[in-house]
Amino acid sequence: MGIRVGICGTGAFADSFIPLFTAHPAVEQVVLSDLDAEKLSAKSAKFGLPETCASLDDLCAMDLDAIAIFTQHHIHCPQAVQALRSGKHVYSAVPSAITMEEIADLVKTVEETGLIYMVGETSYYYPCAIYCRGRFRNGDFGRVVYAEAEYYHDFDHGLYDVYRWRHGDDWERYAGLPPMFYPTHSVSMVVSVTGAHVTQVSCFGFVDNDEDMLFDPERNVWNNPYSNQTALCRLSDGSTARFNEFRRIGHPGTVGMSLYGTEGSYEEQVKGQMWVTKDLKTCIDLTEELAPIGLPVGGVDGQMAKVTGADGTHVGVSRVHEVSRLPKEYIGLPNGHNGSHQFLIDDFVTACVTGQTPSNNVWDAARYLAPGLIAHESCKRDGELLDVPDYGDAPASP
Ligand SMILES: NC(=O)c1ccc[n+]([C@@H]2O[C@H](COP(=O)([O-])OP(=O)(O)OC[C@H]3O[C@@H](n4cnc5c(N)ncnc54)[C@H](O)[C@@H]3O)[C@@H](O)[C@H]2O)c1
Repeated sequence: MGIRVGICGTGAFADSFIPLFTAHPAVEQVVLSDLDAEKLSAKSAKFGLPETCASLDDLCAMDLDAIAIFTQHHIHCPQAVQALRSGKHVYSAVPSAITMEEIADLVKTVEETGLIYMVGETSYYYPCAIYCRGRFRNGDFGRVVYAEAEYYHDFDHGLYDVYRWRHGDDWERYAGLPPMFYPTHSVSMVVSVTGAHVTQVSCFGFVDNDEDMLFDPERNVWNNPYSNQTALCRLSDGSTARFNEFRRIGHPGTVGMSLYGTEGSYEEQVKGQMWVTKDLKTCIDLTEELAPIGLPVGGVDGQMAKVTGADGTHVGVSRVHEVSRLPKEYIGLPNGHNGSHQFLIDDFVTACVTGQTPSNNVWDAARYLAPGLIAHESCKRDGELLDVPDYGDAPASP
């Protein structure tokens, strides 16, 4: 008997995950739901999944084990709380919430229900994050002293369309989101490697004056004038970090980081990644090793050599992805965001089955998000240094 999973929201992003839930050997049934009946019926046909319902409310009333939320980002938290309160484990696309009150409520709900909550933080399985976690575990960084992480995504690179399909006629009112309300791709890069959390933050913003007027505070629902924000943080391990969330930048776009320790450092440029040590005896060009190009079956350690798949490859992964731990059913299936999708869904399904706390649990999710939400407040107060609340470490199991 596998688990029964409801998909809440069958929009663009859900397309990448529905096949992974369906193919997972520990999943018995997948039910789709969307408020848009036309979209729902098209996706039901596309994925060959006849069981559908009209909304999250219906999913909550059904006999399911888990609900995966792929709706517009500002409704994730109330929906996750509703699903947890109905007795379902929850997987949610990022971000977990958009206010501190919401994230506190989410942590409390997980603690009270004892159910699994996992945020689908794609950065967690980016090759650089996996590589740096390995180096960190080995002690190769020494003490981490400083980090830089960033998410650069200029509006000209598809963001107008994204807001149009997510918000329909209202899209211009939503598109001026404070960049620091979506901080998790950059913040998680550092937090997921060192395990330290942000304790204080000071943030400055770039006041936008583009003719599209998206960041006119009088016109967007967020009253937000900033298209780019930079946060300088103090962390619980004594290090400092700089996070950039930019939506207006002459740059091809990136989610990346550099991490500097007393003994060794990982450094990333537009093209290329390096591992270096103080004495320069080690200076490794990682560009090839971390490239998400796909691996032939056999994977990183040859354990899957006898397995045959649809196209014989693990799509979109790098050499540092431990593909041997994935279900063999995933071979040849779509992957995305630098090889992360398959690992995230496998983590969540495994947690639902075993009851063990997954990676990217609610306590991690709070540490990925809170620094950004408080950073925006600091930005509005001209960079005032503010404390960042913390909700503690994850327990061994919920
Ligand atoms: N790298 C990443 O982690 C990453 C990348 C892309 C998108 N995302 C996240 O994925 C989310 C979804 O993005 P998208 O582009 O697919 O959006 P989308 O607008 O295409 O899809 C959202 C769907 O949710 C449905 N919906 C809303 N409320 C519902 C309810 N109560 N019941 C059932 N369905 C409901 C809507 O009708 C819509 O079809 C966003 O929040 C975004 O933050 C994350």
